[in-house]
Amino acid sequence: MIVSNSAVSNYICLHDKVYSFFGGNNYLGLADNPLLKRAAINSIEKYGLNFAAARQTTGTSEIHTELEKLLATFKNKEDAVVFGSGYMGNRILLTALGGNYSSVFMDEFSHSSIKEGIPSDISEILVYNHCDPDHLEGLLKANNKGKPLIITDGVFSLTGEIAPLDKIHALSEKYGAIIVVDDAHSTGVLGKNGRGTPEHFNLESATNIYQTETMSKAGGVYGGFIAGDRELTGKIREKSSTYLASTSLPPPLVSASAASVTIMMQHTELRTSLHRNLKMIIDGVRKLGYLTFSRETPIIPLCFKLKETAEELSEFLKEHGIIVPFIIYPVNTGMYVLRITVSSVHTLEQIGELLAVLGIWINDNGSRNDQICC
Ligand SMILES: Cc1ncc(COP(=O)(O)O)c(C=O)c1O
Repeated sequence: MIVSNSAVSNYICLHDKVYSFFGGNNYLGLADNPLLKRAAINSIEKYGLNFAAARQTTGTSEIHTELEKLLATFKNKEDAVVFGSGYMGNRILLTALGGNYSSVFMDEFSHSSIKEGIPSDISEILVYNHCDPDHLEGLLKANNKGKPLIITDGVFSLTGEIAPLDKIHALSEKYGAIIVVDDAHSTGVLGKNGRGTPEHFNLESATNIYQTETMSKAGGVYGGFIAGDRELTGKIREKSSTYLASTSLPPPLVSASAASVTIMMQHTELRTSLHRNLKMIIDGVRKLGYLTFSRETPIIPLCFKLKETAEELSEFLKEHGIIVPFIIYPVNTGMYVLRITVSSVHTLEQIGELLAVLGIWINDNGSRNDQICC
């Protein structure tokens, strides 16, 4: 495990030594942004650290409602609801949608918050092969009695793949399903306006697609949200005990999130540089002979059959002043993953250094050949 003693940006300090950093999920480099930090400090000065109550009791403040309006504008939806964390989002949404589905079809690499978010009264849970619409269709065909809900990560947290939402959506129309996309890693990253996977696939007008989102990754802050029409947000506010019985998002996070959403809407050049950087790394690692699942997201995993190989490569990079963490994470992929992540604030020089060191390692170790890729 990495223990830092600095802010997390394109550089990081470990034991007071500075390293070039290609880890975490700070895709737009906002986690250390001065405007966000100033917003948080001002908010603490005005509102303190915590409203110390659930939203529907005394925990809602003017800054929550302002943030929700801003998020609705960002997402081009009627309304939005913010709550304590992205992790809570799947539970909140799946509860609010209760009555609209009786079975769940879930990608096998789904994030743990999806698996744990399925309400206990849903007994029919079918797991389809990772990113495999044909297998999903087989399951939908064979289990066609109830009302299906299909759930998937939008961008997979470990492999960086984009779920085939276009194909899943076509199936949803054929089989009368609703879709939930966990867009934790897509918000701010995918789509012209950073609205995530539906925008990426030009599916924003589809009325049967729901998203769960977080401010903790590209947003650089913390806190979960769901945007949608008023019927949906009303159900969340009425029906979800996770939402109703948890303390509201604290003031500094609410105010920093509002600053972050404003930046994500106004500064589209952040997404442009992110996509330039991620393309350089994906093309670069492939050219060197590494295999990776990632094609157009900032999560660029190098996957190995042997734990030792992933650990060794991570250590080798560290010896050369670069941190790319070997990831231990509760998503069962059966692989050992060195997870390179890129942000819009990485410099071309940093990317060049990363590729140069990866080049040295593969020249010396490429013959081991225990890499995995689809
Ligand atoms: C796919 C996915 N969903 C949900 C979450 C939880 O979001 P948060 O960490 O903001 O609570 C994460 C991240 O950690 C994630 O990767």
